[in-house]
Amino acid sequence: MRLAAFIRSDAERILHEWEEFVKTLRPGAALPRWLLRAYAAAILQSIADDVERPLPGVAQAMPSRGEASGVPIERVAAVHVDLRIESGFDLAQIIAEYRALRSSILRLWRASDPAGFAHGAEEMSRLTEAIDQAVEHSVSIYEEREARYRDRFLGMLGHDLRNPLNSILLGAVALSEAPDLSDRQRKTVERILGSVRRLDGMVGDILDFARGRLGSPMPIALMPINLGSALREIVEEVQSTNPGFIIDLRVNGELGGHWDPERLKQAVSNLLLNAIQHGSGNRVALTATGDEEAVVLEVHNDGPPIPREMLGTIFDPLVHGRNPDQNRTGLGLGLFIVNEIVSAHRGTIAVTSSAQAGTTFSVRLPRHPS
Ligand SMILES: Nc1ncnc2c1ncn2[C@@H]1O[C@H](COP(=O)(O)OP(=O)(O)OP(=O)(O)O)[C@@H](O)[C@H]1O
Ligand SMILES: [Mg+2]
Repeated sequence: MRLAAFIRSDAERILHEWEEFVKTLRPGAALPRWLLRAYAAAILQSIADDVERPLPGVAQAMPSRGEASGVPIERVAAVHVDLRIESGFDLAQIIAEYRALRSSILRLWRASDPAGFAHGAEEMSRLTEAIDQAVEHSVSIYEEREARYRDRFLGMLGHDLRNPLNSILLGAVALSEAPDLSDRQRKTVERILGSVRRLDGMVGDILDFARGRLGSPMPIALMPINLGSALREIVEEVQSTNPGFIIDLRVNGELGGHWDPERLKQAVSNLLLNAIQHGSGNRVALTATGDEEAVVLEVHNDGPPIPREMLGTIFDPLVHGRNPDQNRTGLGLGLFIVNEIVSAHRGTIAVTSSAQAGTTFSVRLPRHPS
């Protein structure tokens, strides 16, 4: 008997062994029977379909796929792994299920049809391939799911940290305004304030990161603004916290439009801070040019170029370069957040970087995004 036909005719025995094996993975868990068998029959059906399919490059008439279920193995494997995760299975247990399934099928086939088994090399390699494919898909779905849980956790953590941080901040501001502080007390309060503000910034970054990863677009509040004055404000602020750096701001054309001023300030400030931290020299150029439909912002710095292999992923979260001269290590979230903000405004961002011309990030923002 061919392997596919055997799998179909003896499905019940195979499923029974599968079920018994899954029970041993979670002893004492008393999992309901439907759960033990969930998607197992569909997976088996897809495996039988795959075993029947000719190997690539083997031009040979194969029996028609009379009972083919039509559901590709990766689809069933994906829903199966989802349900397993919800029931507390880990990745090793999910992979063990497939390993046990393969050895059950082969053992039962051999016992019931030794002659077929002896001549079944090609079908066995199809079986191995089908199971490998299911495992591969299970692993990637598992990782995706786990990352989603992690991001949700980060989002909740960031959110819950906000309130206590705010009350520390308010308390420290109130203390710093007290008239009768000694010099030592004043310095301590200032240090507390500085640290809380840094923490608050980091929590904000974590929240933006988690939100972006969870797929929800960054919420923005569009309003009519003049970008020129928002840029001047942010330039002043960045210069005051980075004494010794000069930011050359140049504006050309009309800079009015509908944007979220706070988010744009955040984006421009991230780009300016990057230019200061990752560029060389003490000058950074910020240019804003308005044309009919959009405003283009460019942030330029000199210094060593961004490695070519990094350019493709530079806007992904947690991507950052190594700079041996700097102790400061960023989270690698700055450009990810800039990209989120620009996309929420239906804009685009690009970067060019070379040893001769330096590095320029340019952002194009349509005047009326909605
Ligand atoms: N203007 C720039 N010039 C040179 N390299 C840059 C510039 N901007 C970014 N990079 C490179 O891109 C990486 C990613 O930047 P990103 O802002 O996302 O993270 P970060 O600055 O390392 O950390 P964070 O912004 O989270 O504090 C940087 O680590 C740096 O290697
Ligand atoms: Mg940065």
